[in-house]
Amino acid sequence: MGLKQEIERRRTFAIISHPDAGKTTLTEKLLLFGGAIHVAGAVKSNKIKKTATSDFMEIERQRGISVATSVMGFDYRGHKINILDTPGHQDFAEDTFRTLTAVDSVIIVVDGAKGVEAQTKKLMQVCRMRKTPVIVFVNKLDRDGRDYFDLLDEIEEQLQIQVKPLSWPVGEGSGLKGVYNIYNESLYLFQGDKQEVKKGVEINDINGSELDDIITKTSADTLREDLDIVREVYPNFNRDTYIDAQVAPVFFGSALFNFGVQELLDCFVDIAPSPLPSQTEERQVSPYEEAFSGFVFKIHANMDPNHRNRLAFVKICSGKFERNTNYLHVGLNKKLKFSSPTAFMAEKKSIIDEAYPGDIVGIPDTGNFKIGDTLTSGEIMHYKGLPSFSPELFKYVNNADPMKSKQLNKGLEQLMDEGVAQLFTNKMNGRKIIGTVGQLQFEVIQYRLLHEYNASCQYEGIMLHKACWIKSDNEEQLNDFKKRKYQYMATDTHGRDVFLAESSYVLQNAQTNFPDIQFFFTSEFK
Ligand code: G4P
Repeated sequence: MGLKQEIERRRTFAIISHPDAGKTTLTEKLLLFGGAIHVAGAVKSNKIKKTATSDFMEIERQRGISVATSVMGFDYRGHKINILDTPGHQDFAEDTFRTLTAVDSVIIVVDGAKGVEAQTKKLMQVCRMRKTPVIVFVNKLDRDGRDYFDLLDEIEEQLQIQVKPLSWPVGEGSGLKGVYNIYNESLYLFQGDKQEVKKGVEINDINGSELDDIITKTSADTLREDLDIVREVYPNFNRDTYIDAQVAPVFFGSALFNFGVQELLDCFVDIAPSPLPSQTEERQVSPYEEAFSGFVFKIHANMDPNHRNRLAFVKICSGKFERNTNYLHVGLNKKLKFSSPTAFMAEKKSIIDEAYPGDIVGIPDTGNFKIGDTLTSGEIMHYKGLPSFSPELFKYVNNADPMKSKQLNKGLEQLMDEGVAQLFTNKMNGRKIIGTVGQLQFEVIQYRLLHEYNASCQYEGIMLHKACWIKSDNEEQLNDFKKRKYQYMATDTHGRDVFLAESSYVLQNAQTNFPDIQFFFTSEFK
């Protein structure tokens, strides 16, 4: 198969949801269809349980398991599917944001009874920012939920995207009878089974009496009426508007009962985009270019101190990646060769000889890589799209063992390279401040500094509301601002100016009083 065909058959995506909506269950059912796993429950172990918030050891144990499942590849109907796993725990939201930079599309799982929840809205903001095509899967139809039209209104409003149902449920909760597939115009009857993959019963004539016989005349009439409304209210499905991230197709089903999942998958492989062009600072790169290029979007550290190497996850953006070939690490301006790149097929990790755009390869790393690094066949370019988000929790980090300051600095530097948190240095007193999006990260850092770097740190509270990057063409105003706010000015690890706002009030005032200064809430700005 040539490069073109390899690219066209790839579908690289992430499933995102608010915790408990059914992401893990859906992932598992998709893997069952792909034949990548054979029993339900195999993916479950990857999940960081909500009860584990303060049980850091448990989280690390689970993180260990999660390497194997952080990318799940399988073949389905001639397509190569790559599902990128995202941590459900909201303290790892930053990881999820970064993973979203490596996918070409997204499936959002919404709990049919609970509707759109907070985390889903946040993740959707990232999709919107990146114009990522999304499909919505309304899950848990086997439970009594909301009126379906109300739910669709809520999705449109809360996720700020037009929707287009491509399937429609017959009944709900205990009265669930089936789902009509609008996309391929057939009805699948509900035959719940948690373990097995069963095909639904297909009925092709929605107006025939056969349907009345099977689901009763009342249900059949309701379905016909509902479908009339759907046709009237929602525009005809047009793939371009989906690829353009203007319209989100919606599917209904029950992941637990494996219902509506295959319809989702079948339609997904048809309509979801194959690898799309990616943007570097210098130019746009087409996946079809012969020369290889890719970027590191995730680094997974090995927690075992005896095996310190890490795994860098590289998303291939163009050309063919080959084992034992020299590639340019642009950041280091150094040629590197990789003898054991790994690919992920559901539960298994194996060494591969080649990989194509859309694929993720894991590269064992002894400290060469940082999140965001670009690899190329020789061209000097830098992939964009791995923003750091302005953190919301802050602490001073102090060295608790003066004999180990070298270890502490090295540890902090490497953990920041992995993207565990962000480090700022206060300009006035030179003190280091760690900023995170979740409380758990502070524990993670302290634990890992001790166990991996033999360094100990202590935290000291600091009252801050937000850190934001600042920039202005009005140099005088910028200098004036920096002078006045001297004690609240810091630099990030790239040496860029960061304003540490004590409260939203202070931030608002600063924005009003210094109109020529731009305040940025992600690190990726121009
Ligand atoms: P998440 O990854 O989005 O956090 O959700 P997960 O798949 O773990 O699902 C959360 C809970 O919802 C699980 O129950 C799961 O079994 C259940 N669930 C998922 N899909 C459906 C569905 O279609 N219908 C119904 N009724 N339930 C569903 P749990 O009790 O938390 O876990 P478990 O003991 O079942 O493993």
